[in-house]
Amino acid sequence: CGIVGYVGGRPALSIVLDGLRRLEYRGYDSAGVAVVDGDTVLTEKRAGKLANLEKALTQRAGDSIATGSTAIGHTRWATHGGPTDRNAHPHLSADGRVAVIHNGIIENFARLRGELESTGVEFASDTDTECAAHLIAAEMRELRSSGAAPGPALLAEAMRRTVRRLEGAFTLLAVDVDVPGAVVAARRNSPLVVGRGQGENFLASDVSAFIEHTRDAVELGQDQVVLITPEGIEITGFDGAPATGTEFHIDWDAKAAEKGGYDYFMLKEIAEQPQAIADTLLGRLSDRGEIVLDEVRLTDQDLRDVDKIFIVACGTSYHAGMVAKYAIEHWVRIPCEVELASEFRYRDPILDRSTLMIVISQSGETMDTLMALRHAKEQKARVLAICNTNGSTIPRESDAVLYTHGGPEIAVASTKAFVTQLVACYLIGLHLAQIRGVMYADEVAAVVEKLSSTPEALTKLLGQMEDVRALARDLKTASTVLFIGRHVGYPVALEGALKLKELAYMHAEGFAAGELKHGPIALIDQDTPVVCVVPSPAGRGVMRDKVVSNIQEVRARGARTIVIAEEGDEAVKAYADHLIAVPHTPTLLAPLMTTVPLQILACEIAAARGLDVDQPRNLAKSVTVE
Ligand code: G6P
Repeated sequence: CGIVGYVGGRPALSIVLDGLRRLEYRGYDSAGVAVVDGDTVLTEKRAGKLANLEKALTQRAGDSIATGSTAIGHTRWATHGGPTDRNAHPHLSADGRVAVIHNGIIENFARLRGELESTGVEFASDTDTECAAHLIAAEMRELRSSGAAPGPALLAEAMRRTVRRLEGAFTLLAVDVDVPGAVVAARRNSPLVVGRGQGENFLASDVSAFIEHTRDAVELGQDQVVLITPEGIEITGFDGAPATGTEFHIDWDAKAAEKGGYDYFMLKEIAEQPQAIADTLLGRLSDRGEIVLDEVRLTDQDLRDVDKIFIVACGTSYHAGMVAKYAIEHWVRIPCEVELASEFRYRDPILDRSTLMIVISQSGETMDTLMALRHAKEQKARVLAICNTNGSTIPRESDAVLYTHGGPEIAVASTKAFVTQLVACYLIGLHLAQIRGVMYADEVAAVVEKLSSTPEALTKLLGQMEDVRALARDLKTASTVLFIGRHVGYPVALEGALKLKELAYMHAEGFAAGELKHGPIALIDQDTPVVCVVPSPAGRGVMRDKVVSNIQEVRARGARTIVIAEEGDEAVKAYADHLIAVPHTPTLLAPLMTTVPLQILACEIAAARGLDVDQPRNLAKSVTVE
């Protein structure tokens, strides 16, 4: 979900709508705006895509919604209350004077709503957000009745008084009819940045919303309130004490956030993977084949003291973590557990000072992951984040961070973030092995050399994907697709199935190949497509032979096999209805190759089914609720 605010000298509506469009990648299911003009606040909100909102706006006549110069806009991903027009933001106070938009969840909303209703307030929606509108309006009334003149300072004070009563996570923006030329915002556990313009200022969930207007930004700290007017930006704590944010200059190219000639952001991002891997390796490998992770703020001694590793993440990032477990345990010989962030803290995991927790998050804002991180810190574990988003909450709260340099990922389904997360995990594994002396220098150097050659190999693979596109057209009507793999091929199978579910809304499941015979094989029917991820015949050849046996088992039951195997593995051809050959890579690094055809397969099947590839239904890029 996305938030945009504007005050300045220009008509605010088009600036806010444009900002919302740039935040679309965050995923949403309704959208709305509020514009303050003269002595009214004008709102429009609609379920569905921004186009619905824009259509409703063009049908309005006779008011000044398009010309007012103070506005807030919102794209919502439903939490409390379904994605309807009524529940879309902004929400107005009962007197219609205050409009509020909100990301996050107000956890004590039921109590607040009860209190407000007992004073006669009637709610117009099922949302938690609406409480905030009524509370701010009530505070404004109270402040004014004590003689204070309405003005920006009063609005900021009303916001502070309100947020002191709220529990949970929120970015909250409010405007008031009596205070034209001001937007006030508060932030707790949810992202918010300020864009500093000339004679105008901006607020947004992230900088891409205002990057075309200004590149000077201020990141707010935890529990801060910011008031923007055309003339300035004023930051305080929730208690009213003056505070400062972190000023920064945005140096990434706005072009990076555009489709660059591809039909979908996802295809562009898939194609960017070789570069993303190379960028993530950049500066982290020495000429002598060693790993250099200077920016990881944990000392070598800290890393030597580690006796247990937890890797915690959600979704695709979790699958990267699963691959990392195989690599880290093999190279570093430290027990390593991988866990879904949403499950982690509820089972009372055993952590202490010598535990290293690695959290993986593309966005750096995933609430489940953030909460797991905080839990680990309370237990004194050291936390190392792998993250793609500079300055986001997760790296800020971690003891150390290794950034993946994937660049902005716009498509909701994660692709280049995944491969760069794998690279970051490999780097951490090798770094640990090097520091703890469990791998010889030449062993590390040998892996580093292979890792360095993956961008080139992947570029070659991406040039050979025509067959996968044809296959996608064939599979688009399948009722189910199964994916199997062993060892690191198992998380790849899970990721392949996840992509297909996310994008094509098809039933798909990934299994450990050896587990199939213990139950799931019953799903196989005549022509059931089964995608089989085959390990390299080099290295652990035994594993490859086992997977080949599993392929024979499914074929014997009528399955149609789509086999992903290494180039030169001639023998596997006999068991493949479709063969997708990938360049040779050492076993542990193979997911950097084998995942890619599965991304393309899912993307092309979704496109063939006429679906919205970049913004699948019900999904959000950054899920900031638990
Ligand atoms: C959301 C996205 C997924 C992503 C997951 C974790 O559910 O739709 O694509 O894998 O969050 O996101 P993160 O930003 O923490 O990696």
